[in-house]
Amino acid sequence: MGSRTCSSAVVLTISVVAVLLNADVALCGCRYKRFFAFGDSLIDTGNFVYTIGNGPSPLKELPFGMTFFKHPSGRISDGRVVVDFYAEALGLPLLPPSIPEEATGQFPTGANFAVFGSTALPPEYFKTKYNFTVNPPSTLDRQLASFKKVLARIAPGAVATRALLNDSLVLVGEIGGNDYNFWFGNPSKPRATPEEYLPDVVARIGAAVQEVIDLGARTIVVPDNFPIGCVPAYLSAHQSNVTADYDELHCLKWYNEFSQKHNQALRQELVRIRSKNPGVKVVYADYYGAAMQFVQKPQAYGIADPLVACCGGNGPYHTGGACNSSTKLWGSPDGFASWDGLHMTEKAYKIVSDGVLDGPFADTPLRHLC
Ligand SMILES: *[C@@H]1O[C@H](CO)[C@@H](O)[C@H](O)[C@H]1NC(C)=O
Ligand SMILES: *[C@@H]1O[C@H](CO)[C@@H](O)[C@H](O)[C@H]1NC(C)=O
Ligand SMILES: *[C@@H]1O[C@H](CO)[C@@H](O)[C@H](O)[C@H]1NC(C)=O
Ligand SMILES: *[C@@H]1O[C@H](CO)[C@@H](O)[C@H](O)[C@H]1NC(C)=O
Repeated sequence: MGSRTCSSAVVLTISVVAVLLNADVALCGCRYKRFFAFGDSLIDTGNFVYTIGNGPSPLKELPFGMTFFKHPSGRISDGRVVVDFYAEALGLPLLPPSIPEEATGQFPTGANFAVFGSTALPPEYFKTKYNFTVNPPSTLDRQLASFKKVLARIAPGAVATRALLNDSLVLVGEIGGNDYNFWFGNPSKPRATPEEYLPDVVARIGAAVQEVIDLGARTIVVPDNFPIGCVPAYLSAHQSNVTADYDELHCLKWYNEFSQKHNQALRQELVRIRSKNPGVKVVYADYYGAAMQFVQKPQAYGIADPLVACCGGNGPYHTGGACNSSTKLWGSPDGFASWDGLHMTEKAYKIVSDGVLDGPFADTPLRHLC
């Protein structure tokens, strides 16, 4: 029990006991009592669906949620997403979405501020600089503002806030993907432009990391961007008849190289932040590398074709339509990496989170942080 390491066996046992007895969830010996997360649809656990109220949305219907929860859970997935696996590994309950309880919640084990469609940069940035209108449901700024509002209630004052965040784990991302998705998804926009604003996306993520450090956080995990050139929505929208545009895995080279540029800049930004903040642990999580595992060796993971969506239309790569209750599921959702063109199935998220929890896809495997 006094161990500094949350081995998976211990976590599993204790979380079962914790659920049964409603016992202290920190029993597992992991030092993090709370887990806070910021990001977009890849980790939203219900904020966006809550904010659309009673309005209809495919996200409120099966097949969303069919695998694990057996009902739509507010996640853009058939089941769990990466934060759910992290929470399990830390011996914490699944993270509640922040927005439903923003004004009242005590969030004793943390909260998830991530919102579907969020960008790192504010929409004003794109409007002013590029006359480009985007309407993200939230942004990194707005998520942080909401976080500070919650902190002011649950740990009022700088000293209490620092103490609370001292034993919290903070996840900043994945975020920034939508800053590129919105642009690349617009066929009239030159694809060279995002490289020009990429440094601003990375700087915004870095500023958010510094902000939570200044509030008192001591352990921050920052994931990078996925290999977007292997994502069905990109493969479908940017099809090419030029063989050289594809790599040996049939992914779009240019878009994967773009993700790598973002990731390289993010790595450098984190080096800078670490040097400015001795004693603070800033962990880089390599989602790109973790996801490439099943693109490279799909059969090793029981994935039939890693480059097609399992729901979302009859078009190439099974895209071209909404993933909703009446659209075709292409085989078992477990058989494919991607759920609706841009998002992953629980199975794929588990592969990514295992790589980050156990290594080698984090510079400190998250389980070793405990
Ligand atoms: C900005 O974009 C809108 C269309 O979205 C266009 O009508 C307008 O002329 C553009 N403004 C400038 C300054 O380019
Ligand atoms: C923060 O946590 C560390 C152990 O993780 C502990 O040694 C330190 O005293 C704590 N600091 C505060 C201000 O609570
Ligand atoms: C390749 O596609 C372009 C347009 O995307 C078209 O103009 C060209 O004729 C195509 N070339 C071949 C060999 O099909
Ligand atoms: C599901 O999406 C398709 C388009 O892909 C649409 O035609 C259909 O009306 C949608 N069905 C429901 C129930 O939303």
